[in-house]
Amino acid sequence: DFVKAYAPATVANVCCGFDVLGFALDQPGDEVWVRKTEAQGITISAIHGIEGLSANPAENVIGVVAQKMLEALEVPHGLEMQLHKGMPVGSGLGSSAASSAAAAYAVNELLGSPFSTKELVVFAMEGERKASGSAHADNVAPSLLGGFVLVRDYEPLDVVELGVPLELYCTVLYPQIELKTSLSRQILKQEIPLKQGIRQWGNLAGLMAGLLKKDYALLGRSLHDAIFEPERSILIPLFKQVKSAALAAGALGAGISGSGPSIFALSATRAQALAVQEAMEAIYSGSGIETKSYVAQV
Ligand code: HSE
Repeated sequence: DFVKAYAPATVANVCCGFDVLGFALDQPGDEVWVRKTEAQGITISAIHGIEGLSANPAENVIGVVAQKMLEALEVPHGLEMQLHKGMPVGSGLGSSAASSAAAAYAVNELLGSPFSTKELVVFAMEGERKASGSAHADNVAPSLLGGFVLVRDYEPLDVVELGVPLELYCTVLYPQIELKTSLSRQILKQEIPLKQGIRQWGNLAGLMAGLLKKDYALLGRSLHDAIFEPERSILIPLFKQVKSAALAAGALGAGISGSGPSIFALSATRAQALAVQEAMEAIYSGSGIETKSYVAQV
């Protein structure tokens, strides 16, 4: 009698779209189960696939998201929830976002779908606020909606679904050090020079155009981030070498996934993405850093 929902990992920022662009992978992902209880309030009765996550509904993002939805709908009953984690936390793959998105989707289903999937983004964002101190939508929106999603504005929220206009595969490599989004946001400068801004919005527009015109070369040349990558990549061991290896192996482009430490690369074919995975993995072999990597369809 549980309603179950799966939400996938996501790559936020996509180099030049800091806080405004992200895309969904087909896997890995998280599942949230939910059912009604007669007693009021939310309980988290099980957490599978990970150690050390709080089952306190005020501390776990799935409880936070569900609570916001119950308040909005004035529901007369409570909820029992379970979280089945399929991916590591603090990896830069939108782990808290996948849990938040799956929670929002499952609770909505259980309650007879009072909200559209797009309307669930604001609830899932509350999970991000809890997890990182900032209610960014560039992970939760693609995790809920799939494909590439542009968050054109936050006030008011304007989420634009771009789908996946061309075939794309993503290689993601997670060097297993935990990097909290809150930390990798704190280190960012609050101002950017005009010159860097111009390059960034040129690239973001190029990336959009490349996607919509199905132009792999344009998409590839637009995958640059001269603002945040230099500041954040110092927190990621061997970043430069891994990125160079991905490009040398034929990736269209590569960069930090979300706030890191995962590194992503986009390729036009699955075979290419697998070759890129091998090249990226080779950089870490013998480095003493454990890795996990995935090749997924976008
Ligand atoms: N856009 C956010 C950031 C995503 O880069 O901090 C976090 O996953």
